[in-house]
Amino acid sequence: MKFRQSAQGSFYSQRFLQQTIFIMVHLSDCEIQAINKIWCKVNAKEVGGEALSRLLVVYPWTQRYFVTFGNLGSHDAICHNAKVLAHGEKVVRSIGEAINHLHDIKGFYADLSKIHYEKLHVDPTNFGRFCYVLIIVLARIFSEEFTPETQAAFTKLFHIVADALGRCYH
Ligand code: HEM
Repeated sequence: MKFRQSAQGSFYSQRFLQQTIFIMVHLSDCEIQAINKIWCKVNAKEVGGEALSRLLVVYPWTQRYFVTFGNLGSHDAICHNAKVLAHGEKVVRSIGEAINHLHDIKGFYADLSKIHYEKLHVDPTNFGRFCYVLIIVLARIFSEEFTPETQAAFTKLFHIVADALGRCYH
């Protein structure tokens, strides 16, 4: 078990810190409202396709998980790759379903976490990367409506999503 030293000099286990961070992340009613206000207007095909395309361009090493998707040789090829666009849509739809299970996102993502860990061997750092890219896409599409407060609410939500998907790795 790994240990970290706190500022006060005492030692905490890595697992304890992860659990504590999770408990600290709580969405208020106001934040849930801000998320729903944007999410009800999200076009999963548009947002998901752009987010996954951007992930594959900005972090090119993530392409290795999608070798069966065909041509990922350039930005243009990725943006027009039907498999990339369809998978991006699938991922964003899944996040939409998670928003309907805010009381138990860990439970909702238990099976998917296992699939990404055991079958797909996805490095969990990439969950955070995808969520980061998703924030950028939402900000681009919703512009002024995507206020700093809304961004803060989505950042919290995506932290919970990434943590839930990473559950099997802990
Ligand atoms: C962060 C949010 C993510 C969500 C909500 C999510 C969700 C999903 C879902 C719903 C599936 C379909 C599972 C099935 O058919 O049983 C899937 C498959 C997959 N995911 Fe994720 N995923 C996420 C992030 C990632 C990331 C960051 C990567 C890699 C960089 C990744 C790689 C894959 C791969 C390779 C598949 C299988 C694709 C195929 O062959 O059809 N996922 N994901």
